Amino acid sequence: MATFPQSLSLSASHTWAAGVVIAGLVTWYLASNTNEAKARRAGAVLGPGPKRALLVGNLFNFPKGRWYEAFTQWAHEYGDLVYIDVAGLPMVILNSLEAIHELTDKRMNIHSNRPNPTLVCDIMGYSFFLPFLQPDKDFTEQRRLFQKAIGPRVVHEYDSFVQQGCSELLQRLDGFSGEPLKALVKTVGDVLTRMAYGEYFFVHHGQEAIQKNVQGLELLSSASAKLWLVDVIPALRYIPAWFPGATFKRVGNQGRIYADAIRYWSFDQVKAALSAGITDESITSKYLDEGGISESTVRDAMSAMYGAGVDTTTSTLAHFLFCITLYPNWQKRIQGEMDRVLGRGNTPTIDDIPKLTMLNAFVRETLRWLPVAPLGLPHPSLLHTYSPIPGFVLRDPRIWGKDSEDFNPNRFLPEHNPSVDELPDVWSIPFGFGRRICPGRHLAQRTLLFYAAAMLSSYEVLPYEEEHLMPNWPFEDAVIRSVSVRLQSLSLTPVETCISLPLHIQATCMK
Ligand code: HEM
Repeated sequence: MATFPQSLSLSASHTWAAGVVIAGLVTWYLASNTNEAKARRAGAVLGPGPKRALLVGNLFNFPKGRWYEAFTQWAHEYGDLVYIDVAGLPMVILNSLEAIHELTDKRMNIHSNRPNPTLVCDIMGYSFFLPFLQPDKDFTEQRRLFQKAIGPRVVHEYDSFVQQGCSELLQRLDGFSGEPLKALVKTVGDVLTRMAYGEYFFVHHGQEAIQKNVQGLELLSSASAKLWLVDVIPALRYIPAWFPGATFKRVGNQGRIYADAIRYWSFDQVKAALSAGITDESITSKYLDEGGISESTVRDAMSAMYGAGVDTTTSTLAHFLFCITLYPNWQKRIQGEMDRVLGRGNTPTIDDIPKLTMLNAFVRETLRWLPVAPLGLPHPSLLHTYSPIPGFVLRDPRIWGKDSEDFNPNRFLPEHNPSVDELPDVWSIPFGFGRRICPGRHLAQRTLLFYAAAMLSSYEVLPYEEEHLMPNWPFEDAVIRSVSVRLQSLSLTPVETCISLPLHIQATCMK
């Protein structure tokens, strides 16, 4: 049975997104407090929203958790633009694709900022990290590097890394018992690390680098989950660490050690290897060698690969397994199509993926029905924090029809839906909007489709005996959602092991 390091916790890798969202709320809370008054003076009508109390606005009826559920409820009650105001601090929740495009695409110049909390960005030093970067020169350069390296026209150049990860995943699932999330995290994390820094680095330093990322991201997560006085009064950052009550200083100093490790350590190892004449394929070595993009841009952009890519991709794969278990007739249809198109017993290659229309439809429906980041990330501007809510848009009956709440991959098949070409792109909406749209989405698309196809070509995934799976499975309350699945995959012996909570899946090898 394969085992995986316990320290690779998924929640740790959720960190940057949680950080950005929480920091967004904090920044929004701390930002200008004069907008409502200004609007009133200007005779402007503020959007509808939950009842606001005098002076404190929505301070007491703003949800403490389960934001996605609360925002969805507000969307049903108040419509496409929901205005909330906590003690004079404004936020607009965007629930329609039209409104989101209007603000984040057409007016991307003013709606592409990120929150900038003092503890995380200044003291811990994460202001270099792309998810936190303000749209300045460094931001443009890092995005340019991602576009050059893994943009739509070139992402296939890294197929060998994705393929290697796939073989490793299939091996891990063979004879593996237990929670597949860790196997998925390990696989995706290794692929991203190899792509960023190369095989030589991976062999010698890969696990240490991942460990440093996990540690740093864990602290970033816990620090981001609290409101710190220093975020309210930034000048406090200058008090010494020994000062009574200066916990933020100690957290911040430790955080900086981790942030520096994420930023410099792996990059420095690759540079040292390059100086010693050791080269192999990676994004870092390619762009250091080519020039044209500054060394610091390559270094900083690559430091976000693991943290930004691992949890999102892994959780989407877990959602895929969840849906395949929930809808076994679709598993049969997809496997039947694979047998017809590829020949029974053949594992697909990446180039086969476009031929698998059922699989494509199923994965698209998974992304639509269960996006891993249904709240997206906030896009603050100078006046308001705009929060586009992809999760609401992806189930909007005006777009998807009366069955928008149902899981129905047929909506993506032209023989069942002649208007399929009019549907919005689900390889875009769950990945964000405007200038901040996920730069890793093309890599994610390739990886997700290929791994999903490979898993179904090798294993049959079944709900365990009398397990009653529900479409409205309760998700943990997190910025990046993930269903927790357990999977039993036996290749040589028949499946007979009971798998424990919360969701039991058995997968039998079909070869
Ligand atoms: C299924 C997989 C993925 C999903 C659902 C996803 C989703 C997202 C979302 C919603 C955002 C925020 C966009 C916004 O603010 O409007 C984002 C940003 C980002 N993603 Fe992804 N992502 C995925 C995979 C990846 C991968 C594989 C990478 C790395 C190669 C990556 C790198 C990033 C980075 C660096 C950002 C920050 C961009 C910025 O702030 O400008 N993501 N992603």
